Amino acid sequence: MTDMKERILSFLSPEYPWKDRLSVFPELDSTNNRLKALASQGASHGTVLIADRQTGGRGRMGRSFLSPPGVGIYMSILLRPECAPQELMHLTCAVAAAMCRAVERSVGLRPGIKWTNDLVWEKQKFAGILTEMGLNAAGGVDWTIVGIGVNCCQKAEDFPPDIRDRACSLAMAAGREIDRCRVAAAMMESLWEMDASLFTGKEDMLRFYRENCVTIGKDISVVGAGEVRHGRALDVDDEGALVVQFSDSHVEAVNAGEVSIRGMYGYV
Ligand code: ATP
Ligand code: BTN
Repeated sequence: MTDMKERILSFLSPEYPWKDRLSVFPELDSTNNRLKALASQGASHGTVLIADRQTGGRGRMGRSFLSPPGVGIYMSILLRPECAPQELMHLTCAVAAAMCRAVERSVGLRPGIKWTNDLVWEKQKFAGILTEMGLNAAGGVDWTIVGIGVNCCQKAEDFPPDIRDRACSLAMAAGREIDRCRVAAAMMESLWEMDASLFTGKEDMLRFYRENCVTIGKDISVVGAGEVRHGRALDVDDEGALVVQFSDSHVEAVNAGEVSIRGMYGYV
C-alpha cells in the first residue's frame, strides 16, 4: 500500500495542505470506524484514511457497501468545523457536489446526484457517501467523518446479482480503464476546496447540487417510518432536504435521516 499512497501523493497539487495526514491500509473493517477511533484520540482536521478493501463497509441506515479489493476507493476524511450541528445540515450535499467535481476533473464525466448521497451514471449508482458527526460537551460539533465509496474498475459481471442492475463503476461509465489513484487525489482536492468554502460557498454549492440532482422533477416513492408514499420531487431546500409534493397535493420537505427515495420505475 506504500505504492498506492505514493501514487496518490504524486497526483496532489503542491498546495494541498494535508499531505502529512494521509494513511492507506490494505484492509479495514470500515474507514469510517477506524477514523472515528482516531478522532476520539485527537486526530487532526484533514486526516484521510483509505483502504484497498473493507470487510464491513457501511451505508446509511445499517446497510452495507460492498468494498472488494483492487477496484474501488474507500475513503474517509475527518473535519472539525467549529460550529453548531444545525449549521451542517448541507454537509452531505456539499460532499456530493464535491465528488461530482472530482469525477469530472479526473475522469471527464459529470455524474448525476441521486438525492441525497449517491452518485449515479445513467440510473446506476457508482458511489455513496456516509457522513457521521460527534458533538462536544457544549453541544457543538467535535468531529464529522465523511466516508465515500467509489466503484472504479468493476465490470458489470463483478457485481452480485442483487445489485447488478443498479450498480456501475467509473470504468463502465467511461468505457475505459480508470486510475484509482488519480481519482482518489481528485477527491481529496475537492474535499479540501469544499471545506474551505463550506459556509461562504453554500449558495453556489446548492445551485450546482440542484443542477446535477437527477431526483428533482421525478415521480418518486418515499420509503420510511414503515410506509411508502408517492409524490413528485420538486426541489432541494437550503438545508438539503428534499421538497416533495405528495399525491394528496400537500408539500413537505423530507429529511435524509428519515427516508430513502426510489424512482417509480427503478432505483433512480
Ligand atoms: P438511499 O440513499 O436513498 O437510502 P440506497 O439504497 O442507495 O438509497 P444507501 O444506504 O445509500 O441506500 O446505500 C446502500 C445500498 O447501496 C445497499 O443497500 C446496496 O443496495 C447498494 N450497494 C452496496 N454496495 C454497493 C456498491 N459497491 N455499489 C453500488 N451500490 C452498492
Ligand atoms: C451509501 O451508499 O449509502 C454510502 C456508502 C458509503 C461507503 C463509504 S466507503 C468509505 C466509508 N467507510 C464506510 O464504511 N462507509 C463509507
